[in-house]
Amino acid sequence: MESHNSSTLLKAQSHIWNHICNFINSMSLKCVVDLGIPDIIHNYGKPMPLSKLISSLPIHPSKKSCIYRLMQIMTQSGFFYEHDVTENELEIDYILTDESILLLKDHPMSVTPFLQAVLHPILANPWHEMSGWLKTDDPSTFGTTHGMSMWDYACGGVFNGLESLVDVGGGTGTMAKALAKSFPQLECTVFDLPHVVDGLQGGDNLNYVGGDMFKRIPPADAILLKWILHDWNDEECVKILRNCKDAIAKKGKEGKVIIIDMVVEKEKGNSESAKTQLFFDMLMMVLATGKERTKKEWVKLISSAGFNDYKITPVLGLRSVIEIYP
Ligand SMILES: C[S@@+](CC[C@H](N)C(=O)[O-])C[C@H]1O[C@@H](n2cnc3c(N)ncnc32)[C@H](O)[C@@H]1O
Repeated sequence: MESHNSSTLLKAQSHIWNHICNFINSMSLKCVVDLGIPDIIHNYGKPMPLSKLISSLPIHPSKKSCIYRLMQIMTQSGFFYEHDVTENELEIDYILTDESILLLKDHPMSVTPFLQAVLHPILANPWHEMSGWLKTDDPSTFGTTHGMSMWDYACGGVFNGLESLVDVGGGTGTMAKALAKSFPQLECTVFDLPHVVDGLQGGDNLNYVGGDMFKRIPPADAILLKWILHDWNDEECVKILRNCKDAIAKKGKEGKVIIIDMVVEKEKGNSESAKTQLFFDMLMMVLATGKERTKKEWVKLISSAGFNDYKITPVLGLRSVIEIYP
């Protein structure tokens, strides 16, 4: 009975150790992707010896022997296949498996962006707080950990310190309502064509104004242009941006225009997101006079409208927050 007990307890102990160490699988996978190992093996074009893999990696010479150990755990989890098993570690050839093919940067079904998001410390740290979160009425563990919602964490700084904001082309006010609620000190104005905002009721720090952004935009500390400029060609955008510049003139150098739009990345090759950007660009070509713009095209537009500085933060999936300053 005693020996039966000790053998089942040893089995249980091993089960617990594996459970405790499961995070090592995720972190080793992240390390392999951060080092670009799947792409390096893929680009080699044939089974890649460990010695060649090591020499292709941007690692310190003192860490060479760690790569075999990293590859061992990843091979055991099915991410690589050892083609020629030999006594000499350095001669082991690695090839990709279906799983590591889906880790290639430019594969149309690449899971790398998902991996990078989920395993980033900002999203991974809240898991440490789960039991603490259950003792509070916080809506998310993210909020318990970071003291703010995911939206505020990503973009909160963009609206801090502002007293007034006009959401140009803000439609019926979905975005402005969310901002007015998150930032009670911020006076939010939804500015859109008169027939769009006619009859809409504002609130404490939210109001609606009808007008034409090509003529005049009401003054404020900041102007928001969300999903607007991609509808218009360069000439039209410069007109809108110049009117924005006039609208923030009172705030001097502290005023800013906040643009939320895509920044097209040409080097993304044939990835899923590159395709989405091309689709949107075609939509803009056929349905409007606009286009999706690369960083270079945005910078040209910004300086043509007389702005001197800008900051691009890619925080909203395919869209970025582009802050521009006079
Ligand atoms: C693509 S929608 C964007 C709506 C909103 N910003 C969003 O992110 O969902 C474009 C908006 O621009 C408005 N708009 C079009 N021409 C305008 C003009 N000349 N002046 C003010 N708003 C205009 C439209 O009425 C529409 O609400």
